[in-house]
Amino acid sequence: MELLEWDARSYDSLPLPHRRWGAGVLERLALSGDESVLDLGCGTGRDAELLLDAFPQGRVVAVDGSAQMLAQLRSRLADRLDRVTVLEADIREPLTLDDSVDAAISVATLHWLPDHDVVFRSVAAALRPGGRFIAEAGGAGNVAAFRAALRDVSGSDGAEVWNFAGVDETRQRLEDAGFVDIEVGLVPDPAHLERGEQLEAFLATVLLGAQLRELPPERRRPLVEAVAERLAEPVIDYVRLRLSATRP
Ligand SMILES: C[S@@+](CC[C@H](N)C(=O)[O-])C[C@H]1O[C@@H](n2cnc3c(N)ncnc32)[C@H](O)[C@@H]1O
Repeated sequence: MELLEWDARSYDSLPLPHRRWGAGVLERLALSGDESVLDLGCGTGRDAELLLDAFPQGRVVAVDGSAQMLAQLRSRLADRLDRVTVLEADIREPLTLDDSVDAAISVATLHWLPDHDVVFRSVAAALRPGGRFIAEAGGAGNVAAFRAALRDVSGSDGAEVWNFAGVDETRQRLEDAGFVDIEVGLVPDPAHLERGEQLEAFLATVLLGAQLRELPPERRRPLVEAVAERLAEPVIDYVRLRLSATRP
């Protein structure tokens, strides 16, 4: 399947819970300040910006498959690009870096990747010994009400698009990739939106990108409106998979 392009400007204009999720991941990383950090699925670079602002000696290896997201990242970090390595890559495939990194993060991305064995092995190979990997993404049970609404209006709940993994399988995959000190959990974290334009922009930009891409332009807005209308409340019932692990 082709990589999905993202509407980076719309993405950055939305009240995304991703900001909070990213800040939480960085906090759990507990950096001392001079580390290099791999950000898998870095998007428009918000978490890279947080990190570079907090740590003037810090460096980021920012990896994403969307040219639009990376263009927005380059513009956001224009005055700090000397501390950023930007890689446009499809992380469904094994990733090889020139130099190892001290830590790795991934925010709201793993559920777009069908094979977490591949991803976890890429991260393990990129980390120096002792390096930490902290990530969060949609997990088992994520956006169940939204998926039911989508199924009602389109006949499919998006199972072919997302990989919402559970705790035990994720722990096993991290172990198989050679990680230790593994912690994995699932946390409900609903996002409350305003009905109308905000909810519809959120659905179109964040959740329905893969479905909309398959439709002719004139059928896109009706799908978004139908799903929005079908939701009993303007709430995205997120359930987050949170993980941390160390490369021995
Ligand atoms: C929901 S966004 C999260 C972006 C950012 N981490 C944040 O929290 O705002 C998911 C990101 O994963 C990227 N992505 C999805 N599948 C990918 C793939 N196969 N290879 C590389 N990047 C991918 C998308 O381009 C997008 O930027």
